[in-house]
This record gives sequence, C-alpha cells and structure tokens, in this order.
Amino acid sequence: MRYYYAEHQAAYQRLAEEGLTQWNDLFEADRTADFDAFPNRAFLEHTLADLDLPPTPAALEYGCGTGPAACFLAARGFRVDAIDLIPEAITLARHFARDRGVDVNFSVQDICTMPPGTKRYDVILDSYCLQSIVTDADRANLLTAVRDRLSGYYVLSTAMYDAERVYEDGFRYDATTGICYQATTGPAPDAVNLDGTWYLPHRRHLHPEALRAELEQAGLEVIYQDNGNVVATYQAR
Ligand SMILES: C[S@@+](CC[C@H](N)C(=O)[O-])C[C@H]1O[C@@H](n2cnc3c(N)ncnc32)[C@H](O)[C@@H]1O
Repeated sequence: MRYYYAEHQAAYQRLAEEGLTQWNDLFEADRTADFDAFPNRAFLEHTLADLDLPPTPAALEYGCGTGPAACFLAARGFRVDAIDLIPEAITLARHFARDRGVDVNFSVQDICTMPPGTKRYDVILDSYCLQSIVTDADRANLLTAVRDRLSGYYVLSTAMYDAERVYEDGFRYDATTGICYQATTGPAPDAVNLDGTWYLPHRRHLHPEALRAELEQAGLEVIYQDNGNVVATYQAR
C-alpha cells in the first residue's frame, strides 16, 4: 500500500460527500462546481491542435481522478484508457462519463507498478498527478511506464516550485530536491528523519529546468515547456 493512499482516498470520500466534481475543488476557494472546467483544459485545447495525431488516437491518462480530462479527450474522438490509484475516484469517474455519454475505459491501477504491456498510446496524459509521485524511485518507475507505452506525445501538467507558495506548519521544503515533506508520527516505510523529526515525502515542486532535466534523463525529448506544462516525445533506440 502506498504511504499516501489514505490521504488520497479520504480526499475522494470527502469529494463525494460534498457533491464536488473534481480534486481541485477540494482545495480552491473559488470552486467552479463545473466538471468540464478542469485546470489544464486550456493547455490541452491549445496543445492538442498542434499535435500530429491519427484520426482516432489512443490515449492513456494516469492519475485521472474523477476523469474530467479523460472525458474531454473521449468527447473529441480519442479512445481513452484512464487509471487512478483510488477506487473511489474511478467510481466517480465512471459516473461522470456515463452522465456525459462518453466511453472511457477506466480502471484502478498504480502507474508506478504497471506491468509492461504491449499497447502503445498516441498520447499519454498527466493532469497534475506527477507532483504526488515524490521519491526518485517512484518517479523513475513512472517515467519508465510512460516511455514503454509511448508512440506519440507525453502531455504533462504538474505543480511546480512557486516562490509565493507557503509551506504551512508541519511541512518542510527541501530546495535541493524540490521535495515537500509532511511531518509524521514516527518511523514508517518511506519516512525520513530530518533534524530529529520524522517526515513523509508529500509533493515534488521542481523548477522548470529540473523537470526538463529529469524527463531528458529518462530518455524523453521535451518539445514544448511552459513551466509545468510540457509536451515530450520518445524515440526508442
Ligand atoms: C491532484 S489529483 C488530480 C486528479 C485529476 N487528474 C484531476 O485533474 O482532477 C492526482 C491524482 O493522481 C492519483 N495518483 C496518485 N498516485 C498515483 C499512482 N501511483 N497511480 C495512479 N494514480 C495515482 C491520485 O489518486 C489523484 O487522483
């Protein structure tokens, strides 16, 4: 079980109880309550138009949450597989897709431990999942899973370092790695001891050049980057 599973599960349980439609609405004061107004929609609209794609492209979204971006792609003729770690998210995603009459193949899976498959995708989409995948090992596994399935474009939106962001009490930002840690009660798998306090990795907030370097290190070629909005490709050697 991932150390952050309970946090994410609780988020989707609260989302369902409060009648919200997407993850972002849990944390924003100005909730849109509009399923179709998801945070990276403008980036997708602008980017997808520029990509060289077949008529009915195959797409994989990992970390799809309640599925707003997956439904957006399906409504535009993509054949979409969409996965999330949390079953409660996938239940909600299926409900929203049914309501919209779009066909998305949702399933509960962990992108970091996905067995190698033979299916290739024209687009692999990350709509704000990567910042939750914090450790070097998990991120390397994730990028391997992406690379192994990519025959087109990796389209990524991720939260980045922001000088204005305030890390509240109990959180600690390591500027060297970009890891934000959250204090925990004691030793646990994945916990680290920093100056006598135990912490779990919570988020990874990188500077743009560090994100680019990480993707290139994984063998991807970045063809567009605007801070945390990135398009990359992979040429198997
Ligand atoms: C910030 S939320 C974004 C959700 C959705 N993409 C959206 O825009 O509303 C990050 C999502 O990534 C999922 N996630 C985190 N780690 C994952 C993993 N290892 N495999 C699959 N999904 C994961 C979480 O459960 C959560 O739904």
